[in-house]
Amino acid sequence: MKKIAVLGYGVVGSGVVELFYRNQKKIEINTGERLEIGYILDLREFPGDPYADKVVHDIQVILDDQEVGYVAECMGGTNPAFDFCRCCLEAGKSVATSNKQLVAEKGDILLQTAKENHVNFFFEASVGGAIPIIRPLHTCLAANDISAVAGILNGTTNFILQKMFDENMRFAPALELAQKLGYAERDPSADIDGGDACRKICILASLVFGKHVYPDQIYTKGIRDITLEDVQLAQRFGGAVKLIGIVKRLEDGRVLSSVMPMVVMQDSLLSHVNGVFNAVMVWGDGVDKTMFYGRGAGKLPTASAVLGDIIDEVKQKDTVLSQSWESAEEDTSFLATIDDFKAPRCYRTSPCGKGIFAKIATEIGVELIGAAENGCMISECNQKIAEAFKRCLAQEGAEILSRIPVMID
Ligand code: HSE
Repeated sequence: MKKIAVLGYGVVGSGVVELFYRNQKKIEINTGERLEIGYILDLREFPGDPYADKVVHDIQVILDDQEVGYVAECMGGTNPAFDFCRCCLEAGKSVATSNKQLVAEKGDILLQTAKENHVNFFFEASVGGAIPIIRPLHTCLAANDISAVAGILNGTTNFILQKMFDENMRFAPALELAQKLGYAERDPSADIDGGDACRKICILASLVFGKHVYPDQIYTKGIRDITLEDVQLAQRFGGAVKLIGIVKRLEDGRVLSSVMPMVVMQDSLLSHVNGVFNAVMVWGDGVDKTMFYGRGAGKLPTASAVLGDIIDEVKQKDTVLSQSWESAEEDTSFLATIDDFKAPRCYRTSPCGKGIFAKIATEIGVELIGAAENGCMISECNQKIAEAFKRCLAQEGAEILSRIPVMID
């Protein structure tokens, strides 16, 4: 019999224990191993909990037990999660984590440690909760040259933006509702300022392009400044504002990653991803375009991904090399900057004649895709042209109230 240790008995950790016991027989048949939750590590006591007898407070107990072969890390944060995971890997135990911060900041080190110790460090739950995306990227899609990955990676912001779109709610009450329903934290900044989506796109970028992309290397803009008027203008042009994480390879081979609000046109599948759901699109030269969709957070959806990793680890006898990437702390030459970003743009302005937009578009050499009395949409352009358009608008006396890129998929 092999034991599983669960680190952290919060929402996800307790979900792992619950789902394991619900489906233990099936999991054992699937893996061909007898399995048991051996320990639950947490600082707290859980009197009355059916698994209270498994709770320990010292990681050493888990490290010393040779029967523990697998560890589900559900603590969050990097301290002490990083040290605990590293010690477990060094002790020959495979680790599965739901911790996006840990993988985005320290994934390269932990993957290397796993390799040196012939075990696995898996992290399917760290991006998109229940959505299978990490494993498909390096198994089912392994025959492809993947050129881009993009998607809605944060459910809270997607919920808020949908409330603004569907019910004409302003940002503040929509955020309040998200907090009331338990989607957004009391301090909602990780979601609404884009940090959560940034960590997820770091993980996808690192896996797809093979070098670690760190959170501080990604241009990140959240939805805090998106107004109801921005959402309504996008709607008028046939689009919806969504928080989009993207990573793509440019023609010169460099990789450009960003997280920002974008207008997604209604003919894109992404525009129909509503509420707290997430979706990830992948472009490959064999598959063309695929989309993965599902619940991006929550107790059992996230636990499902963690246990899926544990099941795979039980079956894998050595490190899976395709689920890895290199460190790249000193080599940033493979990364493009936001100055290299090209997209159509949606400008919201103070009321001015539609003719002004057409005149400036002609002068600047872009196509006018749509025009209203308080804004316009122009065809794909780089940052320099987008700035020039803005300057010309200002010269014509229009106040620029917002500029949101438009996603083309
Ligand atoms: N807070 C995240 C979201 C879930 O709203 O999608 C955890 O990453």
